[in-house]
Amino acid sequence: MNKGLIERYRRRLPLPDETAVVSLLEGDTPLIRLRNLPEVDKINVYVKYEGLNPTGSFKDRGMTVAVSEALNRGSRALICASTGNTSASAAAYAARAGLRAFVVIPDGKIAFGKLAQAMVAGAEIIQIKGNFDQGMNLVKTLAQEFSLSLVNSVNPFRLQGQKTAAFEVIEELGGAPDYHILPVGNAGNITAYWMGYGEAAGRDNSCIARARELLADRFRMGEPWIDRCPVMVGYQAEGAAPIVRQRPLSQPETVATAIRIGNPQSWKSAVAAARESKGWFDTCSDDEILTAQKRLASCEGIFCEPASAITIAGLMRAVRAGRIPPGACVVCTLTGHGLKDANIVAERHDQRISVVEASAESIRELIASRL
Ligand code: F0G
Repeated sequence: MNKGLIERYRRRLPLPDETAVVSLLEGDTPLIRLRNLPEVDKINVYVKYEGLNPTGSFKDRGMTVAVSEALNRGSRALICASTGNTSASAAAYAARAGLRAFVVIPDGKIAFGKLAQAMVAGAEIIQIKGNFDQGMNLVKTLAQEFSLSLVNSVNPFRLQGQKTAAFEVIEELGGAPDYHILPVGNAGNITAYWMGYGEAAGRDNSCIARARELLADRFRMGEPWIDRCPVMVGYQAEGAAPIVRQRPLSQPETVATAIRIGNPQSWKSAVAAARESKGWFDTCSDDEILTAQKRLASCEGIFCEPASAITIAGLMRAVRAGRIPPGACVVCTLTGHGLKDANIVAERHDQRISVVEASAESIRELIASRL
């Protein structure tokens, strides 16, 4: 039975044993083997379906640890900037913990499902006339000023929770995959995975070193149990690819609003993860992202949001370019559920809805013409 990831991985997390846990039974998400996608049929592809977390994204892994830590420290309120999923998760975990939550979101361009989640959980929603990066800078200052717990991934407890996804992949596969592909926005999650794989292999890396520095004597590293780490691969949307372009962008644009970020906070660690694992960063266009989203849903029955579909688009690109060889074992993290941003399907995908009379005859005709 799923007990939540803090109970499951307590020995590998920087929380004292007496810490009261704020959990919605996150983690333990399925690792699903793809069977039908012809574009990648020579590769052993698994998707880590993080959309099945309590609020529909991987953020819950980080939030259970960050909010538990905040509550035990006596914090009264949380604050974050968000492109949507962090705010949905922060709002839910704050509600569970009985804390106030302030969430700062960019002007428009946030998927409605995510906004609805923050609203219904009772968070104070502050929409700024600016983008995510501006919001991020503001919450860093305001958190200090009001002694609020900042629950963006600059909070080291967030990444500690998120590293557990790597542990689950290893447990499921009986070792690390050859390649692990992630969408990159604020660059926290790729940092967290590299930390998780490094810890599991007992091999220090820059992301672990950073956590050790930030967490000081609270840092814990469990016993190693694998001997090899994967190649880490990050994809950014063409219009929001500061890491690939090697410069911050003041006006990032992409259909994948979750990763519409021009100046990622964990930039350096993400670059280190790719370098140390002999991996890479690349981009995909919005069209490639939407095509991959549709292909995954229509060939495999798995519905993820556009930011997550970039991993499949990226995989297809890498396979076409011969960068990932036949027979390789690849894990793609599907970071958020497709229902978060259902509007995109109506707006950007070609859908066919047949409108007919309410009679058996008209439906009969239609079925016969389609079979
Ligand atoms: N995928 C989804 C669905 C996301 O919501 C995010 C980030 C990412 C990927 C990128 O992860 O930032 O760790 O590189 N969403 C943040 C938010 C920024 O505010 O919800 P990252």
